[in-house]
Amino acid sequence: MGMPHATIRTLALRAQLVGLLLCTACPGNDSGDLVSQGARIYKQNCIACHNIDPMLDGATGPAVAGSSLELIEARVMRAQYPPGYVPKKPSAFMVPLPFLQKEIPALAAYLGSLPAQPPK
Ligand code: HEC
Repeated sequence: MGMPHATIRTLALRAQLVGLLLCTACPGNDSGDLVSQGARIYKQNCIACHNIDPMLDGATGPAVAGSSLELIEARVMRAQYPPGYVPKKPSAFMVPLPFLQKEIPALAAYLGSLPAQPPK
């Protein structure tokens, strides 16, 4: 005895559908929230030097809340600054992290969602 094949197939299909629906919220999925993805990328790659709260200065890296896409792109890809930008710190400690290229829009969405810090 046992379940007829058709029923088993229906159940399997249903399980697959549920999996698909749940996965729209999977990290890294395009339909996921860009700001929360950026927050995750920031915590994974930036807080060795920058503060876990981007609005505060970190161990060596300055506050980065409010950073523009252009600034983040220049820093992350080349450890440089956009033309004419006045850096918060004169040092050159930050290393480029070009493997994060495709995460730059998410980082910009996250950091841009926070108010920029007025210079002290
Ligand atoms: C190795 C330590 C280190 C890491 C890792 C690091 N940074 Fe930095 N960052 C710095 C330091 C230090 C500065 C100040 C300039 C310098 O010394 O390079 C800086 C400067 C910046 C600035 C410019 C701030 C300003 O307005 O002058 C931005 C934006 C920035 N970092 C973003 C990031 C992001 C985003 C990440 C992660 C993807 C990251 N940094 C990872 C150390 C780091």
